[in-house]
Amino acid sequence: MSFADKTAIVTGGASGIGRALCIELARRGAHVVVADLNEEGARETARQLASAEAARLDVTDASAVESLVADVGRARGVDFMFNNAGIAIIGDAGSLTIADWDRLVDVNIRGVMYGTHAAYRHMRERGSGHIVNTASVAGLVPSPSFTAYAATKHAVVGLCTSLRIEGEHHGVRVSAICPGVIETPLVDHAERRGFGERLGRGDLGFAPYAVDACARDALDGVARNDALIVVTPMAKVAHTVYRHAPSLGSRLMRESFKRVRKRSGRS
Ligand code: NAI
Repeated sequence: MSFADKTAIVTGGASGIGRALCIELARRGAHVVVADLNEEGARETARQLASAEAARLDVTDASAVESLVADVGRARGVDFMFNNAGIAIIGDAGSLTIADWDRLVDVNIRGVMYGTHAAYRHMRERGSGHIVNTASVAGLVPSPSFTAYAATKHAVVGLCTSLRIEGEHHGVRVSAICPGVIETPLVDHAERRGFGERLGRGDLGFAPYAVDACARDALDGVARNDALIVVTPMAKVAHTVYRHAPSLGSRLMRESFKRVRKRSGRS
């Protein structure tokens, strides 16, 4: 499957994985609609691409998401919808407020749900299209220090694997990208709670994977129509161990969580 001359909407396209997806999509010949809450950042991404436009979009606003998909759909048709915008809050679950949980749910679940809903109806009518939602390896394995984030990402994986089977009957493909730790500003942008406040970028575990390599791997998986596109060697190992030996996977996560707590000064 090719991206040439196709139209893709990418949410969260102003930064990190979203920006890298936009660059790689354009390199593969797609017209890209770069959508982000950060309008200037979206414009900056679009300026780097051969064929692109920028749009200010808050993915938590269902009618704004619906309008963007309808406008692009009318003008060119939407071939790919990348629901990628997301946020993280780092820290122990006991230190989160209900407002923290709500914000994570609003952006990471509702944002993906609104984009999926709008694109699915448009693509079902056309009889073709591919919805690609950015989840995380935290949507596949336990992720202490990121409990609420992990809950939202498990929801995204469940949405994708279920809709993928429904969508087959209508020519609509659905995939979930599940990256491990990627070198983006996500952790710097993330708010911290409890012991998370004392954790530095390097304290969370593994050396981050380059964001342009993440985008290449992700689009190769989309082109193959993989259901789950697990990116980074460490994420692949974690997913495989947890799937085949869940108690061993949980034990390894427990050890890793102990190390993280120790680095934060709480043994
Ligand atoms: P990032 O912080 O670099 O980029 C996120 C983008 O989303 C920003 O441009 C931000 O303005 C935008 N955004 C946030 N809230 C928005 C809203 N309400 N409406 C529209 N745009 C909004 O983060 P990164 O790392 O590129 O994250 C992208 C996705 O990848 C997220 O869903 C994240 O959870 C996921 N992910 C990231 C990993 C990492 O290690 N960086 C690992 C696994 C998944």
